[in-house]
Amino acid sequence: MNLPLGELDVQVFLREYWQQKPCVIKQAFPGFAPELDANDVAGLACDELAESRLISGTFDKKNWVQRHGPFSAKELRRLPDQDWTLLVQDVDKHYPPLRKLLAQFRFIPTWRLDDLMISVAVTGGSVGPHFDQYDVFLLQASGHRRWQIASKFNPALLADCELNVLEAFEPEQEWDLGPGDMLYLPPGVAHHGVALEPGMTWSIGMRAPSQADLLLALGEWLAENHDEGARYRDTALDGSPRAGEIATAALRSLRQLMAAPMEASTALNGFLARFLTRYRLAHHPAPAEDMVDEHDLSSALTEGSSVQKNPWTRLAWIEESGGARLFAAGEEYACSTAAAILLCTSPLEITGKNSLSPDQLRLLCQLINAGHLYLQDPDS
Ligand code: SIN
Ligand code: CO
Repeated sequence: MNLPLGELDVQVFLREYWQQKPCVIKQAFPGFAPELDANDVAGLACDELAESRLISGTFDKKNWVQRHGPFSAKELRRLPDQDWTLLVQDVDKHYPPLRKLLAQFRFIPTWRLDDLMISVAVTGGSVGPHFDQYDVFLLQASGHRRWQIASKFNPALLADCELNVLEAFEPEQEWDLGPGDMLYLPPGVAHHGVALEPGMTWSIGMRAPSQADLLLALGEWLAENHDEGARYRDTALDGSPRAGEIATAALRSLRQLMAAPMEASTALNGFLARFLTRYRLAHHPAPAEDMVDEHDLSSALTEGSSVQKNPWTRLAWIEESGGARLFAAGEEYACSTAAAILLCTSPLEITGKNSLSPDQLRLLCQLINAGHLYLQDPDS
């Protein structure tokens, strides 16, 4: 399978562009035929389980308005034919066949992939000039859109506007992208996309935790798991402190106390993997209603069922002592690296054709019973 990088070699892309500078990849997906159309996306925007937004306004008028879904089919039908965009998050979870598209970005570690957001726009539709905190691949799925970008810009946001739109924007570069073309943007590059005609943009978004996210989660984890941990102790008091001063030596000890949990790498790696497989997860999988054991699973696979991944679960693993610690939406399972790779390969393909060891069958049952995987009948 070709990577969606056009003529660009993956090593060149990673070395020269990834997380550094934007690039346009013309015909990243030659002859791209979207599996969903604007009506399908509008249908999702009417579903209360999907996170959707409708943004209208123009850069000249600075009259941006954002409304959150779910919407009614009637109100979407009544929209004007200019200057709005309808955006739906996590479309890869709502329509799992689209995971095949995300799987094509396998040159980036899978735990970094967040979601596929689809925007449907009419002529003039735009979400305003802005910058994001995450890398994104903006694939033009249908129609044409003009993208303008700027690496150097004034970050001041428009006042009294619930959208994060830049107050001023001077483009440095611009491109008109058509179906199959893709723009890669690293975090922090200002961009402004305006639909030249009705069309769709599919955003393959990455996730990256901030220091604040990590430290907040670390604090919660320490409080839950370490009975508050060690406590501050004075060292080398000289008997004549200056009134009110927190001495430099005390500050140093406090910083060391804060840093100490970072040394416990095994426990901390587990915390990180648990945190990352839960981070920004919109829905947590619920345990299965019907529990299975190894015998039930083997029979189901022999009769033609397959094991599928719950689209809302997130799987990732870390290597330890020659084996793997597999994490599924914050829960941990021990397994071999081969089993971890099999489970994290997308799309998951486990059928009666796989020869599964007793350990693998047991692991699959645990994951099915916890709701991370499910059994699909041959006829569904
Ligand atoms: C869009 O698809 O309309 C907006 C995507 C973005 O700018 O991040
Ligand atoms: Co953006």
